[in-house]
Amino acid sequence: MKTIRTFFTLCLLALGMVAAAQQPAIIPVPSSVSWASGTYTLPSGQITIGCSSAQLHPAADYLAAMLARPTGCQVKVKNNGKGRIRLSMTGQGAAGGYRLRVDAQGVAITGNDYRGVINGIATLRQLFPDDIESRQAVDVRRWTLPYVNITDQPRFEWRGMELDCSRHFFSVDEVKELLDVLALYKIDKFHWHLTDDQGWRIEIKKYPLLTQRGGWRTFNNQDSVCMRRAVAEDNPDFNLPADKIRTNGQGQQEYGGFYTQAQVRDIVAYAKIRGIDVIPEIDMPGHSLAAIANYDGLSCFPQTGWGTVFTTPMCPGKDKMLQFCKDVWSEVFDLFPYEYVHIGGDEVDMKNWKQCPDCQKRMESHRLKTESQLQSWFNHEMERFFNQHGRTMIGWDEIIEGGLGATSTVMWWRTWAPNAMKQTTSHGNKFICTPNVPFYLDYDEGGKSLINLYAFNPQPDNLTTTEKALILGVQGNLWTEWVPSRNRMMYMAFPRMLAVAELGWGKPANAKFEDFNCRLIKHYTRLQKLGVTYRLPDLTGFHTTNVFTGDRGTVSVNCQDPQAVIRYTTDGTLPNEHSKRYTGPFEIDRNTDFIFRSFATDGRKDAFVKVSYRKETPSEAIEVADLSEGLSAEWHEYTGADCAGIEAAPVNGCYTVNGVMIPDSVKGNIGLIITGYIQVPEDGIYTFALLSDDGSTLKIDHQMVVDNDGEHSPREIIGQHAMKAGLHPIEVKFFDHNGGQLRLHVYNAQGKEVQVKYWGTPQL
Ligand code: ACM
Ligand code: ZN
Repeated sequence: MKTIRTFFTLCLLALGMVAAAQQPAIIPVPSSVSWASGTYTLPSGQITIGCSSAQLHPAADYLAAMLARPTGCQVKVKNNGKGRIRLSMTGQGAAGGYRLRVDAQGVAITGNDYRGVINGIATLRQLFPDDIESRQAVDVRRWTLPYVNITDQPRFEWRGMELDCSRHFFSVDEVKELLDVLALYKIDKFHWHLTDDQGWRIEIKKYPLLTQRGGWRTFNNQDSVCMRRAVAEDNPDFNLPADKIRTNGQGQQEYGGFYTQAQVRDIVAYAKIRGIDVIPEIDMPGHSLAAIANYDGLSCFPQTGWGTVFTTPMCPGKDKMLQFCKDVWSEVFDLFPYEYVHIGGDEVDMKNWKQCPDCQKRMESHRLKTESQLQSWFNHEMERFFNQHGRTMIGWDEIIEGGLGATSTVMWWRTWAPNAMKQTTSHGNKFICTPNVPFYLDYDEGGKSLINLYAFNPQPDNLTTTEKALILGVQGNLWTEWVPSRNRMMYMAFPRMLAVAELGWGKPANAKFEDFNCRLIKHYTRLQKLGVTYRLPDLTGFHTTNVFTGDRGTVSVNCQDPQAVIRYTTDGTLPNEHSKRYTGPFEIDRNTDFIFRSFATDGRKDAFVKVSYRKETPSEAIEVADLSEGLSAEWHEYTGADCAGIEAAPVNGCYTVNGVMIPDSVKGNIGLIITGYIQVPEDGIYTFALLSDDGSTLKIDHQMVVDNDGEHSPREIIGQHAMKAGLHPIEVKFFDHNGGQLRLHVYNAQGKEVQVKYWGTPQL
């Protein structure tokens, strides 16, 4: 408990003074806040909201509904601008900016525009007690606000979240619930991924099979992983919701769903009231199996399906396919009023294009040399069509390859293509930052996810002032292959989306992570009232493997959310509500494997962690002659899914590396075995942090120290080993099939990073 108290003390210091702890915590951090002494209490019985123009009526109604539910008061909206809460708009100043004043006269929100008023409402919500978010009337006698004067405006115009509704489908109500939470944090773009290989989710009247057939599937391998995880992790949020399952004519169960055009209009209107623009993504020419499998003549050959990684794409050589795309977009334009629309354009497997007579003919007639240029030709064709309809095309950063069009906006997702930002902005095009690390919300949230998001610099110094101005903003992306339910969706999105919100909104001078983190703690109860099944903060105080060398070791566990309940087992079973409760540090005298699990106050079981404590005698160093600096790295052509099979795969090449890393020229199907010796400077317990994407393992002295194996996104696992000063044999195995990352940090017993030396036999 000591650590939790210490953390709160740090929070108070970060907030400047103890009294500040009483003040509401506003996320994202406003530009300027001036608290005054005194409070204003809403009248009981009836509340009046006055709006100064008819344009603000939707905002006033939105606020009225928000207040009526928890307060149980009658909330009236008046057009004369008079009331306890007054909304007005200047039509001047930075888009989305607002002023909010609470004083003896009540609340006045003055927006620079409609969205500014909405942003002011989001701040007002956060000035009220958390109970304002309750879904039913709450017996709070006094709805009191502190006197305050806030002047605020966003740093970036684009503060977005993407939700993939293809891999798993989310109902109209679920999408609206998400929009409600996003509006609370001033997120103003909802990027709606509506089509992909696994399901077409938007009704297109000219092509009804897209949803009649393409909206449904028999359970796929992603569904089965989810169902397995529901059992293995004792977590019902991995189950496929019953309302997304139907029985087809053959008596088989099918998963799916789609939005009718009326429902799309409803969601777009709902978002608009909340100041959120909706950007539809219709992914083409790749990621389109749900379309090409249901209509003939859209792909190069009749045979469609999955290759090793991606699906067969649409055929840009066929006029029928171009017409199909334009027909679909024409209906989409009718539903989505916002200027920006998203064509996808990512991860196209161009193998078929090389063999397709239509594609090759198209390349010849337009003098295109590469298949990438053929995709660019398609993009430019679509871009012209978009422009003719007054739209601006967004594409994933692959659209840069083969030639970027003049009016396209690039959405950067491939962290491993870091030049995308400079290439795009130096070409004069706009740019949205959503590199997969750290912006992919489907990746497991680890201890550093929030700080990595928060620390991201959307305007690095290698950009000129003109180029910096082309950065529209930032966005969190939630892909849903393994996110089948509303609860899991909320779990993956929050609290990370709060960090995205603050990164996109806060002035860099105001945005300090420590301060954000302290405010975040206060938001957990608010999120709970909203029904957001957010991810509890990591349990901390240990590594995956912990070593002690004396008679006894101390087990200490912390959680930054003071409301979390921590339970544990030592018999390998998953902790449940009856398992032993952790109440403070305790000692052990032998090897022990723990499973710790946190529980939210509503009883929801959160993630669990397996942690082992090992009693070790420091291993002796060894003497080896004729070594040279560096480790040996052997690259195997490997397509397997764990480190065990690498050795048996054919060898592509051997390299000397300066540490644990992927040699520069190693690409594609990577199976890597790195061997040699690690030299540590003194006797002690060393800590090894091994990050990889996909899997890796680390052995020292032939003993497994970090097991980070299996297919996964970037993940760091930390283990310990007690060693005497000198040389110790080391072996790292690693595999990946697309990009990949591998990194090892070593720390001494004081937690200081050590620049260890590596030795091996030279590779010629
Ligand atoms: C993407 O993640 N393929 C955009
Ligand atoms: Zn073709």
